[in-house]
Amino acid sequence: MIDVQTKNRIEEYLENYLSDKRKRHTYAVALEAINLAKRYGADQEKAELAALFHDMYRGKPIEVIDRMVREFSLDPSYLGNSNLAHGKLAAKIMEKEYDIKDQDILNAVAYHTTGRAGMSLLEKIVYLADAIEPGRRYPGIDELRKLAYISLDKACIKAMSRSIDYIKSRGMELDRDTLRAKNQLMEEERNTYD
Ligand SMILES: [Fe+2]
Ligand SMILES: [Fe+2]
Repeated sequence: MIDVQTKNRIEEYLENYLSDKRKRHTYAVALEAINLAKRYGADQEKAELAALFHDMYRGKPIEVIDRMVREFSLDPSYLGNSNLAHGKLAAKIMEKEYDIKDQDILNAVAYHTTGRAGMSLLEKIVYLADAIEPGRRYPGIDELRKLAYISLDKACIKAMSRSIDYIKSRGMELDRDTLRAKNQLMEEERNTYD
């Protein structure tokens, strides 16, 4: 599905504009996403493509982010918030400049930071691949890595809980999508055992 030309363009972008650290992270997320896609029977090429794009705008100067937020008429709440804006912007660029129209891939990129209620299989895979790629280090990561290959939903809930705690502990603003995503997955888990 990814034609050679598009793949070359993405790789050229990653080579030229991403720091070595972010490049390593991006390729590691792509590999992890492919492995998760294999495990759960998702489309491996879509997973790889979303992963390659996911952090394209991470680490850009805030002036650049803000200009793009305005250019794409994103919600003004994203102004000054590169942490939340970078995925949304990457999805817009994929669509506009790479002519990628597959909504599932675009959503996987747009929601990779926060998750959201009603995530698709692909969205969960990219969200988790970002959280567990081998370069990540934080307490509980080993258990989360194992869990990701046992139950995708349980692993998402765990990753979201950690993210919510982290954001609260630092006094940062919590995106409502993360809370909704976690609550919805927990509700589903409960119903499975009723
Ligand atoms: Fe990101
Ligand atoms: Fe990332």
